[in-house]
Amino acid sequence: MVQELQLQATDLVAPLFVHDGDAPPEPVASMPRVHRLSLDALVTEARELSRLGIRSLAIFPVMPSRLKDPNGSEALDPDALVLRAVRRLRTEVPSLVLFTDIALDPYTSHGHDGVLDASGTDVDNDATVKILAKMAVLHGKAGVDFVAPSDMMDGRVGAIRGALDDAGLIHTGILAYSAKFASAFYGPFRDAVGSAMAAGTRSLDKRTYQLNPANRREALADALLDEAEGADALMVKPAGPYLDVILSLRSETRLPIAAYQVSGEYAQIHAAAQNGWLDLKATRDESVLAIKRAGADWIFTYFAKDIARDLADGSFPAAHRNP
Ligand code: PBG
Repeated sequence: MVQELQLQATDLVAPLFVHDGDAPPEPVASMPRVHRLSLDALVTEARELSRLGIRSLAIFPVMPSRLKDPNGSEALDPDALVLRAVRRLRTEVPSLVLFTDIALDPYTSHGHDGVLDASGTDVDNDATVKILAKMAVLHGKAGVDFVAPSDMMDGRVGAIRGALDDAGLIHTGILAYSAKFASAFYGPFRDAVGSAMAAGTRSLDKRTYQLNPANRREALADALLDEAEGADALMVKPAGPYLDVILSLRSETRLPIAAYQVSGEYAQIHAAAQNGWLDLKATRDESVLAIKRAGADWIFTYFAKDIARDLADGSFPAAHRNP
């Protein structure tokens, strides 16, 4: 009776990795219990998540290096893997809310979220925005509920909204990754999708477009610009190290706030638990409750399925036991 909030499976968004071909689920080394799934396995997993009460998924494609080039051309292929995944999920598990990332990093040989300018070292903001707007239309047509620009280019939300509307996709929403920090916690994700390998480094430097971890005011300013440009929901990412940003944003906007508990936040809990240093379930549950307490409405987390299962059998939140 005195607990101020309850976590529900419907708060959770499960990020899933999909790859082409029919290989069995392939484990991601730095993310225990996370796999790259074939399209068939993705549909099976989506059904299971739905049965556990999870309402929504974020789909991330893992692209082979032969489909990557400096311009990320594959992003505009109408038959790209992520679009095939969305079409299948849309028809085979129609009740799910689907999110897809709008950014070029799965498709660029250098691993950046956009195309590079003449210097070859920095992204070309405006050229990238034009590509992202086309990409968003393809995703909208394939049937996603929300396109989620995760690229952090300036002006992309307005451009994407305009392009969606011009294509008649008035019901396709935009979840803007507004407060996306240039974080070292994305390392395992870059392993999972191979953007680190393509770039030859896990510490791919995205500081010219992602936010400085020291800057809360700038994060809020960026989020409010995205709202003014037509975003339907705003994202803070990573989540756990940026609870102050979630809390501050909560009092600045009436839109839903999403928070992304990223790969490194997930990996560190698993790694410590594997060492016997932390209690996996108790730290997992506390980490997600804290994100909700800060003010997040939607929580993207790789723990979604395991938590949904524990919510269903009443064992969430787990009591702490010394490992
Ligand atoms: C790419 C993207 C990233 C994540 C989601 N979309 C990584 C990056 O910006 O390099 C990270 C998610 C995670 O670490 O779990 N636009």
